[in-house]
Amino acid sequence: MINSDYWLNRYQAKETSWDAGEITMPIKEYVDQLSDKSITILIPGCGNAHEAAYLWKHGFKNIFLLDYVAEPLNNFIKQFPDFPKDHLILKDFFELNGKFDLIIEQTFFCALDPALRANYVKKMHTLLRPSGKLAGVLFKNYFEKDGPPFGGNEREYKSLLNVLFEIKLMESCYNSIPPRKGNELFIICTPKNIENNH
Ligand SMILES: C[S@@+](CC[C@H](N)C(=O)[O-])C[C@H]1O[C@@H](n2cnc3c(N)ncnc32)[C@H](O)[C@@H]1O
Repeated sequence: MINSDYWLNRYQAKETSWDAGEITMPIKEYVDQLSDKSITILIPGCGNAHEAAYLWKHGFKNIFLLDYVAEPLNNFIKQFPDFPKDHLILKDFFELNGKFDLIIEQTFFCALDPALRANYVKKMHTLLRPSGKLAGVLFKNYFEKDGPPFGGNEREYKSLLNVLFEIKLMESCYNSIPPRKGNELFIICTPKNIENNH
């Protein structure tokens, strides 16, 4: 069963093959073109949160990190003691409330049981301001082995996301890190103006 104990065990056993060790190029290039550094940014399933480290060092101050395992959040705060502690959220993503301008997707979607995908889309929709964006990377293919990571494809993602989002961009990444080359899509989605009755 994939729950917080599963992920805690992975961190404790240092079996964190998903961890790129630094911000990945697709996310770096995306955030580098953001000019407003006051926006509220959520990184769900943040793990060691290399994107947050990069954003923090580059002047973004309203970054919120969410994970339901304390270990990586504790590591992060040791490295960045000035980072506001109330921006570290130890919680299940599906129980989070709040509104954000940007939510960054980096190996969180693929970590979830695929049965949760429709709920992920609904939750993302409720967490974004009307002018907000969901941006980041998704795997482009299914994997032979059962996950996590769980793969997917463009057709599946479009049918899931189209219900509540305008898909502004869903394109193969040209700048993936070597182990993910040819297997990533970059997405930018904005919430459709639908009553939040979910
Ligand atoms: C594959 S790791 C990715 C971590 C990080 N994004 C990275 O790229 O290094 C997935 C992370 O999502 C967290 N996670 C999985 N399901 C979660 C949930 N429902 N709520 C909060 N965190 C969750 C796990 O604890 C783990 O840290």
